[in-house]
Amino acid sequence: MQMSMTVNGDRVTREIEPRVLLVHFIRENLGLTGTHWGCDTSNCGTCVVLMDGQPVKSCTVLAAMADGHDIRTVEGLAVGGTLDPVQQGFMEEHGLQCGFCTPGMMLTARALLDRNPHPDDAEIRQAISGQICRCTGYATIVRSVQWAAAHPPGWDTETDAETDDGGAGGTIAEEVTA
Ligand code: FES
Ligand code: FES
Repeated sequence: MQMSMTVNGDRVTREIEPRVLLVHFIRENLGLTGTHWGCDTSNCGTCVVLMDGQPVKSCTVLAAMADGHDIRTVEGLAVGGTLDPVQQGFMEEHGLQCGFCTPGMMLTARALLDRNPHPDDAEIRQAISGQICRCTGYATIVRSVQWAAAHPPGWDTETDAETDDGGAGGTIAEEVTA
């Protein structure tokens, strides 16, 4: 069957088998391997992408079900070489260790902040409650999302860099999309 969807702002049209899962379509057909594949049983949440702005576990969605919809993956978070505040927050607050859960965590955080720009810690924990992190203990993930909430899109990167000496520096873009 032929299907079309928007992925990170680009229109894509492909012939696919109806049984193909969205996670495999994204990784194997589109080569966007920042979307991770973990349990395949709907438990871990590492496969989360945004469909029409809402987090979905892409191992539970047929690619055909995304026909005509808007998909955003971790590769679509940074715009024009500028990290999304969520990505920056994960760097500033050390919200990742192995990074396997991180793309899904960041996309869920982006969706949360889009609907609730100032969540409290409980709301952040509720938002990521369907996603498992085996490394961080979650505290630094919550702090990362709070950092992003305090630095909404458009925040002045240069000013912030001059006044904040607590950042880790480095090239997080590669780390958090790999
Ligand atoms: S791979 Fe989708 S929830 Fe684990
Ligand atoms: S950073 Fe390793 S699973 Fe979350």
